[in-house]
Parts: sequence; C-alpha cells; structure tokens
Amino acid sequence: AFPVARDPEEEFGDLVVALPRKEQFLVGRLYKGFWLPEYFAPGMLAFQRRFTPRPDDVVLTSYPKCGTTWLKALAFAAMARDAYPPAAADHPLRRLNPHACIPFMEDIFIERREAMLDGLPSPRLINTHTPYSLLPEKVTTGGGCKVVYICRDPKDMVVSLYHFIRRLQPDLSFVDTFESVLDGTVPYGPMWDHILGYWHASVMHPDRVLFLKYEDLLQNTGEHVRKLAEFMGRPFSAAEETEGTVASVVELCSFNKMKNFEANKTGTTEGNYNSMAHDAFFRKGVTGDWVNHMSSEMASRLDEIFHDKLRGTVLT
Ligand code: A3P
Repeated sequence: AFPVARDPEEEFGDLVVALPRKEQFLVGRLYKGFWLPEYFAPGMLAFQRRFTPRPDDVVLTSYPKCGTTWLKALAFAAMARDAYPPAAADHPLRRLNPHACIPFMEDIFIERREAMLDGLPSPRLINTHTPYSLLPEKVTTGGGCKVVYICRDPKDMVVSLYHFIRRLQPDLSFVDTFESVLDGTVPYGPMWDHILGYWHASVMHPDRVLFLKYEDLLQNTGEHVRKLAEFMGRPFSAAEETEGTVASVVELCSFNKMKNFEANKTGTTEGNYNSMAHDAFFRKGVTGDWVNHMSSEMASRLDEIFHDKLRGTVLT
C-alpha cells in the first residue's frame, strides 16, 4: 500500500500534519480546496515554492488516470524528434516507460532531487498532477512557461482509478472509489475544480495553457499531436508532414504498441506512485468502459454533478 504518515520533521511536514485529514484508500489532506494525497503533499508544496521555470519549459499536467502516460509519451516523442526520430528502432520510448522519460514533480521534490532539473537540457518537459491554483506562481504568471492539461470523462476516470489503486489495495471497493469522486474527496479532488482551474486558465491564456481531452485525442490523435507540437513551439514542417512524421509519433505512442514494449510489461516506476508496476499504466485504453462497472443510475449521478459544476464551459 501507499506509505501514509510523513515525517513531521521534514520540510512542510508540519504544515501538512496540521491540515484537515481524511482517511480512505489514500490518506488525503485538504489544502486550499483540494484533497492532496498526504504522501505527495510536502513535495507539491516544495514544488510550488521552489521551482523556477525556464521560459521554454512545458509542464504536462493532468487529473490522475486521464491519459498522463500517453500525453507524456506524445509530448516526448514530438519534442525530441530531431534527436530521436519516432520511427527509429532505438527510440527511448521503446526501451523506457514514459514516466522514466519525464520527471514527476511530486516525487522529485519529495525526494529532494530537484538539482536534477537544473541538469536537464532545454526545452524541459516536466509533469505534475498539481491543481492549477497550486502551481508555482512563476509558472502561471506573466513570464512563466507553457502548460498542457489532459482530462477525461469522470466515469472512465473512476474506473481507471479503481483498477489502478486496486493493484496496491486489492480489497478496494468500487463503490467507495465512486463515492469519493462524488463527494470531492478523491485524491487531488474535487475533480471538477481541478478541471475548472485549467479550463479557465486555457480560456484566459490560450497561448500558455493547452486544454486536452482524452476522448478527443483518441478520436483524432494526429490532429492533436500537431496541435501539441505547435503549442510547444515545435510545429511539424511541410517536409515532416510529407515524410509522415506525425503518423510515426502516433504509431509509436499508440496504446497497443506501448502496452507491448518489454519496458512497459515489466518493471516498476522509480519512486513515483510508490513503485507502481509499469503495466498498471496500460489497462484498456478505450472510452466508455464505465458501462461495465456502474449502473445507469450511478452514471447519471456522476454526470449530473459534473454537468452542474462545469456549467458555463464547453465541457458539458
Ligand atoms: P484505462 O484504465 O481506462 O485503460 P494515466 O496515464 O493518467 O494514469 O491514465 C491511465 C489511462 O490511460 C489508462 O486508462 C490507460 O490504459 C490509458 N492509456 C495509457 N497509455 C495509453 C495510450 N498510449 N493510448 C491510449 N490510452 C492510454
């Protein structure tokens, strides 16, 4: 299982232990409106206070279980395509899990490994589940850097989350996981506020915040890879279009391809998610699997609350 209590002696540990606490499948601490996983909270606070972005950094953000791994793979493949042509037999994504290619800030800062960030060549890609309002101010204000967010139908998110956490806690109940989404105490929840923070930022600053949906990506991956590359400042050239580079990126990062790479079938992540088995990040890779897990009454309850909370956006 996930480790729970953090050492109060550690940086921000005393702040975290003073926060409202909820014990469920992951222990949550309520900080400025979000139920942060207790284990990651000190790392998130350190990230918020100490991270210094470079103008060409790209922060890949997501609600958990909404396509983080895929976004990391696509962004890495697109950004590094000169050094690593996507069709090359020795591409890093053929031998490394995507989480090994892009650092997860909660981990990096919890483990005080942030010096490694200074050593990364520009443009850097980094990753976090931090809500928009809790990102480092230097990221979100004027001279900050770019942010890409991905979210997903909450019904599919909860199914994905349930299967993921069950790898660590086999007795986890689906109903408990589901109810935690409804009452907002799900890790990093409320999910609607997480989505809304990034949604509003993307409307206010479309040049700095790109908002993506897993379902859209699945429907037309190529179009979104183009959008992503352009947003990151690395648009595909006419020559690359002719050579089929976009299609190569899409193919390299496709679910069936990635799931079957040896690096994703074996091994565990280093540090993050408490050394999660790589294969836990590749389950079904489809939309609509919720029909196999919840009644239509449950689905309506979830849809209604998200419809209500996301009213006034194009997300409903
Ligand atoms: P399912 O559990 O519904 O299959 P995250 O990366 O944020 O943890 O999200 C995991 C979800 O993304 C899982 O959903 C997983 O199968 C799916 N996923 C992982 N890699 C993918 C890919 N290359 N293409 C499409 N979906 C992918």
